[in-house]
Amino acid sequence: LPTAESIVPAELTGCTAVVFDVLRATSTIVTAIAHGCRGVVTVVDTAEAQEVAARLAGENTPVLLAGERGGEKIPGFPHGNSPLEYPPEVVGGKVLVLTTSNGTRALNATIEGTHTVLVGSLLNARAVAQKACRLGRDVTLVCAGTQGKFSLEDTLAAGMVVLEMVEMMDPGWLCSNHQPPSLDLADLAVAALHLALAYRENPRRAFNRSHHGRKLFSMGLAADLDWCASLNTFEVVPVLKAAKKENGYPI
Ligand code: MLT
Repeated sequence: LPTAESIVPAELTGCTAVVFDVLRATSTIVTAIAHGCRGVVTVVDTAEAQEVAARLAGENTPVLLAGERGGEKIPGFPHGNSPLEYPPEVVGGKVLVLTTSNGTRALNATIEGTHTVLVGSLLNARAVAQKACRLGRDVTLVCAGTQGKFSLEDTLAAGMVVLEMVEMMDPGWLCSNHQPPSLDLADLAVAALHLALAYRENPRRAFNRSHHGRKLFSMGLAADLDWCASLNTFEVVPVLKAAKKENGYPI
């Protein structure tokens, strides 16, 4: 469970990486794709996001420009980073260009060297686990965190994916204390799994105990928290592809 900044290529080479920024970037991406969004271009830099959106619009591609910093919509941007901004009637058939404080940075940092990068959240945890099992490669779970710090909600979502994988591939793991598991889990993954067992019946409760969850609540974004806590609402698993600037970000 490395954070984006701590990623070293050796941990990622050839693996399936799953990136989590539950509050709210990956939840927003999963929601947009589930609601018919044509594709999401994840960008780190604000000016580059504006440039990408202008380029796509110039090519008559229907595009939405969205950005967040510190939980707020970037001044001058038409859209922010709430998943509730992207119902089908708004996002269907369009390309979403998104830049956020932590999530898009983690996604774009993970793409180097991995075999596949999946976008994970509580909304699609079971579908992510099923796809990771089908891909049959080592899995690295990347938690975006907040400003480089540990994030309870991201680790909870990672733990939900681990729990789903264990139940699919090694159900005895949960009940046996002695049988060597067939799934080789890192200790951090075991810790995340137990976090998931603790909050499985009510993931929303975890957001009341997380720093970023409390911040968003204080900003009047309780509806976002309710949405992002909704476990296994969608079966979509967005896959991140490296879009090179010189290729004009093909979607
Ligand atoms: C992030 O990328 O750090 C989050 O998505 C921030 C937010 O939207 O509150």
